[in-house]
Amino acid sequence: MLTLKNLTVSIASKTIIENLNLKLEKNKVYVLMGPNGSGKSTFALTLMGHPFYKIKSGKIIFENKDITNFEADKKAKAGIFLSFQSPLSIPGVNIFSLLRTAITGRKDPLALREEIEKTAKLLKIKKELLDRSFNEGTSGGEKKKLELLQASVLNPKLLIFDEIDTGVDVDALKTIAEFMAKNKQGKTYLIITHYNRILKYVKPDEVLVMVDGKIVKKGNYKLAKEIEKTGYAKI
Ligand SMILES: Nc1ncnc2c1ncn2[C@@H]1O[C@H](COP(=O)(O)OP(=O)(O)OP(=O)(O)O)[C@@H](O)[C@H]1O
Ligand SMILES: [Mg+2]
Repeated sequence: MLTLKNLTVSIASKTIIENLNLKLEKNKVYVLMGPNGSGKSTFALTLMGHPFYKIKSGKIIFENKDITNFEADKKAKAGIFLSFQSPLSIPGVNIFSLLRTAITGRKDPLALREEIEKTAKLLKIKKELLDRSFNEGTSGGEKKKLELLQASVLNPKLLIFDEIDTGVDVDALKTIAEFMAKNKQGKTYLIITHYNRILKYVKPDEVLVMVDGKIVKKGNYKLAKEIEKTGYAKI
């Protein structure tokens, strides 16, 4: 589903990701861990086509198509979704208008509204948040749930969640993780996290460890547990 070949990414002439080779398969959940500043968010933003991050060499192949140089909107249309580590707010635009614009023509506006309200209920998102400007005056945990709401409605093939579990209380985390676990059929998940707690509900098929822009270790959920116990020094 996603193949990265010798991917090297830089920002402001500094190389962040170097010669990365990786394959992510359909119906699998991958967890990406690594120390602060190791390049996890850079990797996620590059996959999504963020213009600041320059792909110096290598290829991104998604569903047998070379999407290396696609801009973010084309990558989204191809089926990639990124939930930001720090979700942005959009003054004057609520989630109904945001998603209506994002999926123009694909769904009837009334059916879309119903789907948003139904999903919000499942995610225990307060109704008043839906009518408010997107992410304005929204708490950290509420923002993370709204990210998942968008992902659910947009129905992408590759879902990248950058620290969706950070700053989220135990009950919200359970709601988020169980929702993810129930909706992973036919999709690929890449969950960037510093913690084990989300892995209790969303079982990872593979744990990847990034250090200095390279995948230095791969393993199963036990690797995540080991990291929590011993840190990255011994990896
Ligand atoms: N826009 C930018 N300008 C300059 N340097 C940047 C920029 N974005 C990222 N970097 C640098 O790239 C490196 C990797 O950052 P990145 O945000 O990808 O790390 P991370 O693994 O996601 O860390 P964290 O766990 O803290 O979220 C850091 O040294 C960071 O300072
Ligand atoms: Mg990050």
